[in-house]
Amino acid sequence: MAQWLIKNGHLIDPANGLDDVMDIRIANGKVAAVGKSLGAEMGDDVIDASGLVVSPGFIDIHCHLREPGQEAKEDLLTGTASAAAGGFTTILTMANTRPVIDQAIIVAGMKYKIQTDALVRVEITGAVTKGLEGKELSEIGDMAQAGARAFSDDGYYVNDGRLMRAALEYASMFNLPVISHSEDCCLVADGVMHEGCVSAKLGLKGRPAEAENIAVSREIMLAEMTGGHVHIAHVSSKGAVDLIREAKAKGIKVTAEVTPHHLCLVDKTIESFDSAFKVNPPLRTNEHIVALIEGLKDGTLDAIATDHAPHAYEEKDCEFNEAPCGFAGFETAFSVLHSCLVKTEQWNLQALIQKMTAGPAAAFDWKDRGHLSVGGLADLVLIDPKKEWIVDPHAMLTRGKSCPFTGMEMVGQVVRTMVDGKWVYQDGKIIRN
Ligand code: DOR
Repeated sequence: MAQWLIKNGHLIDPANGLDDVMDIRIANGKVAAVGKSLGAEMGDDVIDASGLVVSPGFIDIHCHLREPGQEAKEDLLTGTASAAAGGFTTILTMANTRPVIDQAIIVAGMKYKIQTDALVRVEITGAVTKGLEGKELSEIGDMAQAGARAFSDDGYYVNDGRLMRAALEYASMFNLPVISHSEDCCLVADGVMHEGCVSAKLGLKGRPAEAENIAVSREIMLAEMTGGHVHIAHVSSKGAVDLIREAKAKGIKVTAEVTPHHLCLVDKTIESFDSAFKVNPPLRTNEHIVALIEGLKDGTLDAIATDHAPHAYEEKDCEFNEAPCGFAGFETAFSVLHSCLVKTEQWNLQALIQKMTAGPAAAFDWKDRGHLSVGGLADLVLIDPKKEWIVDPHAMLTRGKSCPFTGMEMVGQVVRTMVDGKWVYQDGKIIRN
């Protein structure tokens, strides 16, 4: 197995408190040494990482790989290629596939396919309810035993509080989180964007922020009641941030994530009627963005998650009201946040990396991920923080070619990704081992 000595990179490893120009040696798929001026050992391939940032591989606790069943949108190979290009070495895929991942046999099938097709580590979410129908609890225990790492009906809110209670109780027996897509179904009804001045002006039906706040309140109360771990997916409203902050202060087991698009885009973009901006929960306003950034800074929000949700181009290429929600997110996530928040001095690179590595690992108690400890997994990423590029979805590896950041100028890009001591991505190209 190849050995690597990566020299002179700016190593940022928040879990280990490292932020300095250092070398890192990789051997046998593990981190063999981290330090200043490490000498090459026999068989080492030396890489000069001067000017580059070396980070633990990113962890995305929310994505959609569309396999099984919707391979025209994405599959395990294209999805994980896209993840590798974005610097993600572990990703958690959601259950809203066809069939829905709601039985142990489907989890087992996925695990088998992941072994042959995936370029990065893929963890599996099982559905909370059978068929995501919100009527009957799925086989939570069996799926946990088959290897599911979380449970979620993402895409839908579990409207029946009794079922959500049972899911939290059941999942807590396996120390696993239940991920909530928190939007009250009745309040959002058939809304297609954030409810506010822009929706009124455009004559489009709105999804009020209160729908999210109300849904989050129930989840927090159920987590307190059951002692289970609820994780709030794609937080997008100021009210939700306030509620989660308060719940954490009370010691309730709640964690939360926020996406790059909710941090960097507003509802006003929809004045173009471009369906690339259609997503659930919807893009909101600056007031919400300010609260989300505050939530990241004070620890209310634990992680950045992409909600990578690719759709085939022709599905998105239609009238705004008819288009499906979501878009690809792996390949733009780091660059968008680096360009919009770090380069503008609203945030710093160390904190951004923390929320893409140690933060998600801690939220889901994935102790072996999100750090570059000696003896630990050699999952890492090299980033060129000065690289300028323009987002062009057709140059991306995902099948989801609809992207709300199309044409935007970026500063900073992932240039190499290593999983298990092997390079899987370098300068726009996938490396199959
Ligand atoms: O916009 C979204 N798309 N939000 C979700 O929660 C689900 C996702 C999808 O699966 O397309």
